[in-house]
Amino acid sequence: MGRRILITGGAGGLGLAMARRFARDGWRVLVADLDEAAGQAAAKEIGGAFHRCDVRSDADWAALRDWCEREWDGLDVLVNNAGVSGSGRIERIDMADWDWMLDINLKGVVRGCRTFVPMFKQQRSGHIVNVASMAGLMNLPGMVSYNVAKAGVVSLSETLRYELEPYGVRATAVCPSFVKTNIGGSMRSPDPVLAKLASRWIEGSKVTAEQVADQVFDAVRTGRFRVITHPEARAALRLKRFFPRIADRPIRRMWRKTTAALEKQDTAEKRPS
Ligand SMILES: NC(=O)c1ccc[n+]([C@@H]2O[C@H](COP(=O)([O-])OP(=O)(O)OC[C@H]3O[C@@H](n4cnc5c(N)ncnc54)[C@H](O)[C@@H]3O)[C@@H](O)[C@H]2O)c1
Repeated sequence: MGRRILITGGAGGLGLAMARRFARDGWRVLVADLDEAAGQAAAKEIGGAFHRCDVRSDADWAALRDWCEREWDGLDVLVNNAGVSGSGRIERIDMADWDWMLDINLKGVVRGCRTFVPMFKQQRSGHIVNVASMAGLMNLPGMVSYNVAKAGVVSLSETLRYELEPYGVRATAVCPSFVKTNIGGSMRSPDPVLAKLASRWIEGSKVTAEQVADQVFDAVRTGRFRVITHPEARAALRLKRFFPRIADRPIRRMWRKTTAALEKQDTAEKRPS
């Protein structure tokens, strides 16, 4: 029997690409997603299973754990991938949108880990793959709530990597830059200028979801902790580490241009219609 993997947000985008990649190699795949129609279709396509799940719900997580115990007698890999996107300047993102972002992108991952760690410890095996983002390492202006959530996921993953090692349980943090998926569809932003900028970056990406899935597959095989999926991001991180002032320049330049566009947006908003 193939090894067992559960992927949240597996109905589309990076999650579906990972589901296909692991299924192709004979893994048994459980797709968990809010979107039932797309989740069922994904499971059918790859010959896997689907379970509806909102990563914000403790009850849904408990149901996923029960399913794995009942149907598979355990689990080998948990991929905390489900996520949404958001942007906006600090004074504009309201607290309800902060709660929404943190509840899905950070606490959704925390809940997944809390639910499955006891099982993994008992098995003395298991691998938690958390899909964070380069946003959690680079902190581009205009995306503060997303950055904070993803930095939290990186921190959580690194902590668990040490904490779980004595039990033979591994952790991986995946940090993609922009990839063309449906993530723009979930975007909440009080600043249309910033939402447009993010969709331009997403559309312009040259790294595909399939390439990210290949890298995650490899990380599970080798036990690699950090996966920086885009070559230019690896270069940017090196620059940030060794020559931080040089690394800052393009970010400052981009933000000066964006600030000008935002100020125009603000003026247009104040004009009586
Ligand atoms: N696409 C990118 O540019 C990019 C870059 C870096 C990181 N990421 C991260 O990759 C992950 C996957 O994103 P994607 O690009 O494939 O986006 P996507 O929108 O294509 O897919 C996200 C999936 O998550 C599901 N989902 C959303 N909220 C959920 C919830 N509360 N409970 C359960 N499922 C939920 C959606 O139904 C969807 O199937 C996210 O965590 C995202 O932050 C994406």
